[in-house]
Amino acid sequence: MARTPIIAGNWKMNNTIAEGTKLVKELAPLVKDAKVTVVVCPTATALAAVADALKGTNIHVGAQNVHWEDHGAFTGEISCPMLNEIGVDYCVLGHSERRGYFGETGESLEQREAGEYLDFVAGQVKAALDGFSAEEVGKLVIAYEPIWAIGTGKTASFEQAEEVCAHIRKTVAEKFNQAAADSIRIQYGGSVKPATIKDLMKQPNVDGALVGGASLKAKDFSEIVNY
Ligand code: PGA
Repeated sequence: MARTPIIAGNWKMNNTIAEGTKLVKELAPLVKDAKVTVVVCPTATALAAVADALKGTNIHVGAQNVHWEDHGAFTGEISCPMLNEIGVDYCVLGHSERRGYFGETGESLEQREAGEYLDFVAGQVKAALDGFSAEEVGKLVIAYEPIWAIGTGKTASFEQAEEVCAHIRKTVAEKFNQAAADSIRIQYGGSVKPATIKDLMKQPNVDGALVGGASLKAKDFSEIVNY
């Protein structure tokens, strides 16, 4: 079954409103014929302005974090309906930087090193997908990002990326069903660059990329999107 690849730019804590809107105005014409789903994930303060600037384009907007409740006494948090209201369609959840720096749940790097990495990743996938229906899971996107490859310039080999992404798909099939596993999109992330995207996308179980550093330059990100 054909899955539309998804390439997302995770801006992390970069780009003011002025910088972010300038970047997407430069980016939009460069990716207008993209064959993939294109997403940019600005900071919370820039979400509304970037979503406005992207109206009528093929670029979607994603947030970098969201609370699980729709509303309530959760100081400093933002909910899904609030994001939807300003035109946000996607959200990065459980990024390793949030797990590492802000104490979100998730196993540590030490635990990863101590155990088998495939079992470790399968455990994270099962925990993250708990409570979803098979139908909902089919609409999700999972990003596999080895911590040692984020922002370091060290990319996992294409074989390593494929091995883990295939294992994630198998885990989804076992926990839910084959239809969910066939439709869920699995990205690789960690120092993805214009020079590495092509071979990465040849891997049958890699359905896209989550791009940090290289998403901050319109030219680099557009080259990744148009691989
Ligand atoms: P990077 O970040 O591309 O700068 O390595 C990827 C990410 O953390 O999503």
